[in-house]
Amino acid sequence: MAYKILITGANGQLGYELKKILSLNSSYELYFTDVDSLDISDFNAVNDFIKNLKIDFIINAAAYTAVDKAELEKDKAEKVNVAAVKNLSICAKNYNSKMIHISTDYVFDGNKSFPYNETDETHPLGYYGYSKLLGEREMIAIAPKGVIIRTSWLYSTHGINFVKTIINKASMDNQNLQVVYDQVGTPTYARDLANCINLLIQNFDLDDLEIFHFSNEGVASWYDFAHAILKISKIDKNITPIETQQIKQLAERPKYSVMSKNKIKSALNINIPHWCDSLIDMINNLNK
Ligand SMILES: NC(=O)c1ccc[n+]([C@@H]2O[C@H](COP(=O)([O-])OP(=O)(O)OC[C@H]3O[C@@H](n4cnc5c(N)ncnc54)[C@H](OP(=O)(O)O)[C@@H]3O)[C@@H](O)[C@H]2O)c1
Repeated sequence: MAYKILITGANGQLGYELKKILSLNSSYELYFTDVDSLDISDFNAVNDFIKNLKIDFIINAAAYTAVDKAELEKDKAEKVNVAAVKNLSICAKNYNSKMIHISTDYVFDGNKSFPYNETDETHPLGYYGYSKLLGEREMIAIAPKGVIIRTSWLYSTHGINFVKTIINKASMDNQNLQVVYDQVGTPTYARDLANCINLLIQNFDLDDLEIFHFSNEGVASWYDFAHAILKISKIDKNITPIETQQIKQLAERPKYSVMSKNKIKSALNINIPHWCDSLIDMINNLNK
């Protein structure tokens, strides 16, 4: 099927993986944009783009993603995570484009001890999560056709992320690695999320607005994740497990943010790779 697809935030981690995967389909007409070419907080720019090009799908991979800085830069976070989502939703609704918007596990407070469903009550602890929740609400209120996908602990070979930071720090002789073991969630290789988005475009009837959860399978603490990163990278370095209260961070994070993927798995009839297997793939790709 020939679709015109707009990807916002294309220079980010998810945007990079979307570029690799969507470009394999020669029938897609792809428009990769980032803030320099399409600032999604500019309503007129978004409106003209979607209207003039008759966009079929909008994939919003753009966001303000600095979790701690968001506590100090609330206006900036709000502009991209709320106002811009409203802009895209209005245009999607007006021009009948389907919208795939990405949100976060940080909309939850982490007080559960078993996986979060899409219908579970939200209660973000920090401003980043709060702004992402307000963005979801804008989209739900405007109700274009499409989906909101909540994901967690995203990483890619491209950009700055936990995997690359741990490898870099471990490579410095003088760095003593300390990682929290009391925040539990699931890492997500952005490549796997990009694959899921591609399948949604091809197979899923996006005629309403639905929320889905997507991460890799399995559960880990940040300490487990860091341990696996070093083991797979064959870096022999000790990591000290610490508690969240031992470090100073501006934003509070959920202690537990594992999400159930049952809904997306049955909608698309897919199996999702375990986070360890995807991490091996990512580190292999990083070393290529
Ligand atoms: N990273 C995570 O751990 C994580 C976890 C859960 C959910 N998510 C969600 O997953 C999605 C993708 O995250 P990611 O890690 O790929 O993000 P990312 O790497 O931070 O990329 C976001 C991109 O959006 C761009 N952008 C910022 N403001 C913009 C604007 N006004 N107009 C157009 N583009 C703009 C950014 O440009 P600049 O770099 O120049 O600002 C950047 O290139 C986001 O919705 C995020 O909230 C991420």
